[in-house]
Amino acid sequence: MSFAQDSAAVPSPQPPPDPSLPRANRVIHIPDFRLEHRLTAEHIDFFETYGFIRFKGFASRDTAAGLYAAFNALTADLVARDTSEINGVPLIKGRRDDGSAFYGRIPFVSLQREEFREFLGDPRFQAIIEDLAPGSRIGHDERDGLVVNCFRNHAGAKYKNLGWHTDSLRDIAYLEKPRRYLNVGFSLSDSPTRVGGLRVLPCTHNQSIASMLTTKAHFLDMKPDPNELAITTEAGDLTLHDGRLWHRTALAQVTGDASERCVMYLPVMDGPRKPKTAASATPFYFHLKKLLGY
Ligand SMILES: [Fe+2]
Repeated sequence: MSFAQDSAAVPSPQPPPDPSLPRANRVIHIPDFRLEHRLTAEHIDFFETYGFIRFKGFASRDTAAGLYAAFNALTADLVARDTSEINGVPLIKGRRDDGSAFYGRIPFVSLQREEFREFLGDPRFQAIIEDLAPGSRIGHDERDGLVVNCFRNHAGAKYKNLGWHTDSLRDIAYLEKPRRYLNVGFSLSDSPTRVGGLRVLPCTHNQSIASMLTTKAHFLDMKPDPNELAITTEAGDLTLHDGRLWHRTALAQVTGDASERCVMYLPVMDGPRKPKTAASATPFYFHLKKLLGY
């Protein structure tokens, strides 16, 4: 075999890596997967190997902008009514630099805005559940329902970032083997490195319970990890990650309005249905979060 043939087999070079991304991003290339109807075998292989997958342009930028506008209108309504909880789930209120109020996290959004309920009717969400979390359902009125997180970085914001955690503490507390909790996040706004965002330790979704309990202090450890991978998104992208993976939400490098990053999370539920109403009590978990300062 000639040298010329060898060099012809070398794949075309990748674009130069973004120097603001962690080291792992220079090693693990995150493909720009597209979700047409169902997940392909390649999608499932990627997800099962790394514990996450990103679908570019799951919805158009216009669709994302429409949902973002509906979310802002909901925020304005809730602020006007000085709402402090919905179905027993407390709201986290903050102040922008101009003094206006906002919420860092709004639960049960699809019960309050038809645009979101319609969006969740996209059959591709059902396909994701059937392929990666069979037997689960979208629980509009269960646990926290459809949640929209609005991370901002300034003095008046309480919800700026989230420390390292897995979503499996509850299973461990019940002495059960941690199940896959499928995290489905849809980006309402752009999330480049400068606004912080999702950081994961790839492949840790198959770790032991001991490793889940000892690798890091859940929620308290905010430090970047030398092996973390940044998952950047644009408005309209969808990310899925296995909740057993170590993950965190990094602090934005910019402040004020430029730091705003809004993501909606699907309520993927299994087990017996436990619908919530306005009479539902605040779960203990939120008292614990308050103690930790969230
Ligand atoms: Fe999480």
